Amino acid sequence: MKLGVNIDHIAVLREARQINDPNPLDALGIVKRAGADQITIHLREDRRHIQDTDAYSIIYLSTLPVNLECSIDSEMIRIACELRPHRVTLVPEKREEITTEGGLDLVSNNIRLKRAIETLQRFEIEVSLFIDPTSENIETSKDLGVEWIEFHTGKYANIYAMMYANLSNTHHHIKRLELPRKELTRMLEEEITNLRLLSSDAVKMDLKVAAGHGLNYENVKAIVDIENIEELNIGQSIIARSIFTGLEQAILDLKSLLIR
Ligand code: PXP
Repeated sequence: MKLGVNIDHIAVLREARQINDPNPLDALGIVKRAGADQITIHLREDRRHIQDTDAYSIIYLSTLPVNLECSIDSEMIRIACELRPHRVTLVPEKREEITTEGGLDLVSNNIRLKRAIETLQRFEIEVSLFIDPTSENIETSKDLGVEWIEFHTGKYANIYAMMYANLSNTHHHIKRLELPRKELTRMLEEEITNLRLLSSDAVKMDLKVAAGHGLNYENVKAIVDIENIEELNIGQSIIARSIFTGLEQAILDLKSLLIR
């Protein structure tokens, strides 16, 4: 299973002081050496983490493929075409959110998505859609002609966190409820089964399937066991661990959990 390391969180730390340290560019060689397969970055409309100069330097200098996440705003698509990363993952964006809280609304954004996808593909950039795992979303993604879909695993991660860590709803828009453990177990199994069935459907439709959001060293196992998921994009948990172990070791630890 392939691993994309989302290095945005290095820029999060830098922007906390608005200086030039730590520099996300310094991660490129380490991510490669640790055996990851891809660099993932999110150029947000509000530029709160990754800046245009980061995106340019990372795409220009990375010896691993770069997966650039951005919104479908026409200016972002123009920049993505200029940057020409290996892949663009289109994601929803709300300025007030802490992180990407759900997948794209493919229905109300259908025309803008179609235009964005055609433009990116004209520049020979692979396109992926960050979606909530539903059959409708897979069918619409197929109709839109993308090569990849990425399942938002926030709901899964959130149920897992409620079950084992008693954490609140940081990853998805389901509200924390005082649910009995039995109900949480049922919800977790339902979510895993849903991801398994839908990734199989997607592969049959010739779509490549990635997954990400809220995945960590504890909850990743059940996702790894879904054979039709080809790639994971993981950021927060890897960078969090790297503070204590160093980035290379944090990636090696995660990679060791991806063996099927
Ligand atoms: N994939 C996509 C499309 C994302 O937007 C994000 C979050 O930026 C991730 C993966 C990684 O999520 P996390 O930082 O929770 O691992």
